[in-house]
Amino acid sequence: MRPRAARFVVSAARPEDFPPAAHPEVAFAGRSNVGKSSLINALAGHDGLARTSRTPGRTRLVNWFRVDATAAVTLDFVDLPGYGYAAVDHDTRTGWRPLIEALLGERDALRAVALLIDIRRGVENEELDFVPWLLARGLTVIPVLTKADKLGKAQRQPIAMKIKRELGIGTTPILFSTEAGLGIDELWRAILKTIAAPRPPRLAQDA
Ligand code: GTP
Ligand code: MG
Repeated sequence: MRPRAARFVVSAARPEDFPPAAHPEVAFAGRSNVGKSSLINALAGHDGLARTSRTPGRTRLVNWFRVDATAAVTLDFVDLPGYGYAAVDHDTRTGWRPLIEALLGERDALRAVALLIDIRRGVENEELDFVPWLLARGLTVIPVLTKADKLGKAQRQPIAMKIKRELGIGTTPILFSTEAGLGIDELWRAILKTIAAPRPPRLAQDA
C-alpha cells in the first residue's frame, strides 16, 4: 500500500509541546539505530520524511507525521527517540522517560505501538520490560523485526517464532526490511486493523 500523502507535523522535546491529538496515532519504538525512521519513510512512501542516520541516537525529539493512508483514513505516526544508547541516555536520563511515559501512558489518541527489534539482536531486557507496560495501558503492540535482509531467508522465520515466544504476545512479528522492500504491506494491514477496532481499556496507570 502506498499512502496518498504524508507530511511532517511537529517535533516536541517536552510533553507541553505535544500537539493536540487530531487523528488516531501509531508510535514507533525501539532501540537506537533499529531503523525506526527508515521504517516510517518506507511506510509513508516518502524517503526524506523522517531523518535517518548511521549514528545511533539521531532522533532525540518526538516527531509527528501525518499520513493520509486512504481517502477515508488519516493517521499520525509518532517517531520516538530510541532507547538503549548510552551516550544519549546519559544526557537525557531525566528527560527521556517522562517524555515517553507522558506520550505512551496518557494519550488516548495513541492506539498502537510498533515495537521494532533488530532481527540480529532479538529480544533484550528493555523489550521484556516494555511490552507488559504497553499492554497494561490498552495499547496494541505490533512487533516488527527490522533489517531482515541481514539474515538469509531460511533463518528468518525460525527467529521470528523464537521472538514471538519470548515476547509472550500472540502476534507473530512482521519481517521487515527497507533494503528488500519487505513487510510494508503487512505492517500497513496490521496498523489499519488496529485503528478500525475499538480501543481496549487501560488495565493500570502505574503497572
Ligand atoms: P535513532 O533515531 O538514532 O534511534 O535510529 P532509528 O531507529 O531511527 O534508525 P534509522 O532509521 O536512522 O536507521 C539506522 C541505520 O540502519 C541507518 O544506517 C539505516 O540505513 C539502517 N537501516 C535501516 N533500515 C534498514 C534495513 O531494513 N536494512 C538494512 N540493512 N539497514 C537498515
Ligand atoms: Mg530515528
